[in-house]
Amino acid sequence: MFDLKFELIKKDPGSSARLGSLTTTHGKIETPIFMPVGTQATVKAMTPEELVQAGSQIILANTYHLYLRPGHELVGRLGGLHGFMHWDRPILTDSGGFQVFSLGELRKISEEGVKFRSHIDGSRHFLSPELSIAIQQSLGADIAMCFDECPPYPAEVSYVQKSLELTTRWARRCKEAHTRTDQALFGIVQGGMHPELRRESAERLIEIGFDGYALGGLSVGEEKGLMHEMFHACAPYVPEHFPRYIMGIGAPEDLIEAVNAGYDMFDCVMPTRNARNGALFTSFGRINIKAACFEEDTGPVDPECDCYVCRNYSRAYLRHLYRSQEILASRLNTWHNLHYYLNLMRQVRDSIAAGTFSAFRKEFYAQRGGAGS
Ligand code: GUN
Ligand code: ZN
Repeated sequence: MFDLKFELIKKDPGSSARLGSLTTTHGKIETPIFMPVGTQATVKAMTPEELVQAGSQIILANTYHLYLRPGHELVGRLGGLHGFMHWDRPILTDSGGFQVFSLGELRKISEEGVKFRSHIDGSRHFLSPELSIAIQQSLGADIAMCFDECPPYPAEVSYVQKSLELTTRWARRCKEAHTRTDQALFGIVQGGMHPELRRESAERLIEIGFDGYALGGLSVGEEKGLMHEMFHACAPYVPEHFPRYIMGIGAPEDLIEAVNAGYDMFDCVMPTRNARNGALFTSFGRINIKAACFEEDTGPVDPECDCYVCRNYSRAYLRHLYRSQEILASRLNTWHNLHYYLNLMRQVRDSIAAGTFSAFRKEFYAQRGGAGS
């Protein structure tokens, strides 16, 4: 296993927020960090140079999609993900578990692994912990994830318990299959909305021993308040000298709450997917650029944003591009939204460094009319 170096630089005096740095094979990441999602070895609509300009330090890619197309062995022969997609900074790959479980009727779980049909052509496949690790080793990400089961919500406690036991056995198999010494491996804590089960899951994973620990199985339909409670309940189950990652989270206020509870890494399709639907994040809340009120609006998307888009284009022009279904609409909207997310995390890190995160969090909610505080 890779000896991943996670350094805790500063703890916030008024909350559980922490500033850290994570050293991977492809360089250092400052935490807390948001990881843009590049499912198909591309963060949709952005070149790697643009991602760097927008402030990305690490991106995420997906085992399930890249296994089906173009195939992990091909990617391996072509220089791994880094060479293939021309991105020389850190990459994290998700294990495929979550994506396979999202297929619903198209999959069947057993002790050995998961049988599923491709969402592309209906072809039959079998994904196991060993194959997920083999794929992730071919892809060559800096951080690989264990193959897990994400139970549905709501679910019977007995199902969630059995599921986390399976996830634990799969995690042991992942660790045994993992041989790359330049790649870190993270465990995924499951246990639904039951803190006791989450604690059990975390303890068993820590016994096996991973480089970092993620919370999976959140943002699966539960109320926001319950999800935030889970953040707080589960953080102490992972000792503070490990990086803590919450998978698939979230809206800006979810990131603020997760940082407040002591987590370091996040990923979500929200900034990129919303951008392509015309939903833009601003310092005073979300807007939809297609709204009639922007028809003659010569102002920038967000007057407080200094991104390339806000410096050069009006809301009126972006509305026109969106309504005309121009490719540039997706590009510019994605650029702004990613800049918003990455800049929010930069401000979060600066505030932790200055010992003022709690004040920053208050101000964040005040700007949005107090919602969600
Ligand atoms: N992404 C969001 N949630 C999950 C999860 O529970 N497991 C995995 N592997 N990925 C996720
Ligand atoms: Zn902007």
